[in-house]
Amino acid sequence: EIRRKFLDFFVQKGHKEVHSSSLVPANDPTLLFTNAGMNQFKDVFLGLEKRDYSRATTSQKCVRAGGKHNDLENVGFTNRHHTFFEMLGNFSFGDYFKKDAIAYAWELITSPEWFGIDKSKLYVTIFKGAEVSPGQLLGSDREALVQWVNVGVPQSRIHQMGMQDNFWQMGDTGPCGPCSEIHYDMGAAASDQGHTDCTFGCDCGRYVEIWNLVFMQFDRDSSGKLNPLPKPSIDTGMGLERVTAVLQGVISKYETDLV
Ligand code: SER
Repeated sequence: EIRRKFLDFFVQKGHKEVHSSSLVPANDPTLLFTNAGMNQFKDVFLGLEKRDYSRATTSQKCVRAGGKHNDLENVGFTNRHHTFFEMLGNFSFGDYFKKDAIAYAWELITSPEWFGIDKSKLYVTIFKGAEVSPGQLLGSDREALVQWVNVGVPQSRIHQMGMQDNFWQMGDTGPCGPCSEIHYDMGAAASDQGHTDCTFGCDCGRYVEIWNLVFMQFDRDSSGKLNPLPKPSIDTGMGLERVTAVLQGVISKYETDLV
């Protein structure tokens, strides 16, 4: 139901529903296993491939047990990391950008007609600016900040973070850009360290990233340099297992209907 609702929401917003691609990526020597929903659209972001749609939505089967986005060391130790998971995503190939991506995300997760998640449990992060490659500086993401404020998120719940948290790239090379994450407060019971009064930013397991909105703008080349993509684009990824835990009122995937 949750997977279907996500896809229906974006189909209703003009997105083409596309099937999950194979876990073994086609024609991509940079990647052993599919690690994100955007993999099958890599060449579309790069402008090397044209599709007959400029908006897509998928529920992508992913493996993160090696390579750049390796979660293996955390599996079994946290409630939120898995070797295999499904990533729900919406994509814009040079169509809409930050404003609509943020408005769609907020509507889907908070509207009582859709996921109806309690706003008082949500936090968002945005890119604070950094040296994104040697000698290349990117400033703080003011546009994302303004859009979050416009949809009604109080400034006190918007946190700025650096490259590690708020700049996403598929691999050492390829499409990348600043990102904005939505986190959910699972409550004290979810803290691996038994924290009862920690605040957002603590990485004890209480605050869980449920959705990452990537503002795809660059292609990182093998020298590390960032070159602009033909058109600014959107790549988002929501963890089906994590949002299912939220909607079922439990703190881990192992307690949801999925397992
Ligand atoms: N590609 C981004 C991620 O994997 C968003 O889908 O987090």
